[in-house]
Amino acid sequence: MNHLNDKTREIVINSSPEERIANTKKFSWIGYTQSISIFKKLDDLKNYPKVYRMPNLLLIGESNNGKTAILRKYDERNEAYVRESDLQVINPVLYVQAPPEPDEKRFYNIILDSLFAPSKTTEKIDSRQQRVLHLLKRMETKILMIDEIHHVLAGSSRKQRTFLNVIKFLSNELQIPIVCAGTKDAFNAIQTDPQLSNRFEPKILPRWTNDTEYKRLLLSFEKILPLKKESNLIENSIADNILNKSDGLIGEISKILELSCIQAIETGKERIDNQIINSIDYIPPTKRRKQILY
Ligand SMILES: Nc1ncnc2c1ncn2[C@@H]1O[C@H](COP(=O)(O)OP(=O)(O)OP(=O)(O)O)[C@@H](O)[C@H]1O
Ligand SMILES: [Mg+2]
Repeated sequence: MNHLNDKTREIVINSSPEERIANTKKFSWIGYTQSISIFKKLDDLKNYPKVYRMPNLLLIGESNNGKTAILRKYDERNEAYVRESDLQVINPVLYVQAPPEPDEKRFYNIILDSLFAPSKTTEKIDSRQQRVLHLLKRMETKILMIDEIHHVLAGSSRKQRTFLNVIKFLSNELQIPIVCAGTKDAFNAIQTDPQLSNRFEPKILPRWTNDTEYKRLLLSFEKILPLKKESNLIENSIADNILNKSDGLIGEISKILELSCIQAIETGKERIDNQIINSIDYIPPTKRRKQILY
């Protein structure tokens, strides 16, 4: 079973089919070139000296193409800890999701909640804002990550402006880089504010295309899918088939492989081939849209 990594080989040898299916459904992080380059960028930002104009990053990509996975992985790698000298909690990276609407109060609340410092509904915006600043300074937070930023930048232009000002304010007061992730709507909204647009470097997470990077991704998936036989996913017709069905989105690629792997275990075939890929209960994103429209 040389097609598997050591951990997965162990699982295949020691687990029942049911356990292998449960394992297939678990999320396993796969590093790919673009994600590694974004981590490097985030490290640079984390170590950036405090200057009057801090550089920020805007991670833009289609839905289901790995933005949240990257930010969460980075957050996980920069866990909070207790500093021994003074028992202070240090939280180098804070990850939050923007509220579903551009509501400044709720936004501060989300940050406070994630710092285990909830607020009362009666607490004024100013007080929440001051506590956010105070806590982030005390925890020596070096990067504030705001995911799903398109939610708060999608409202009326007045609300958009309020939120852009909140981001600008936090960035200026804390003098830490702010990393936002969202769809291209967020990019367009930030472009409307010249001061912010030149402080936010856009980083695009493109759809996957049939190149060496994609083949490398398939190889990585093959190593962690708990199947007894080699599927050779990088074989052209299989690789093309997965890419066409997935629309080039990593979330779809991973879903197709998960369902195919389960089918391969259940049928006893123990490898993924085009016949399995074509028989799983999966509707490609493009067809899903058509189904709803008609
Ligand atoms: N590095 C990775 N390794 C393994 N699977 C991944 C990776 N990145 C993404 N995925 C898969 O793709 C799915 C979608 O990724 P993610 O939630 O990060 O997308 P997103 O770009 O944040 O989408 P949205 O804009 O809808 O929030 C994940 O649930 C996971 O199954
Ligand atoms: Mg996301």
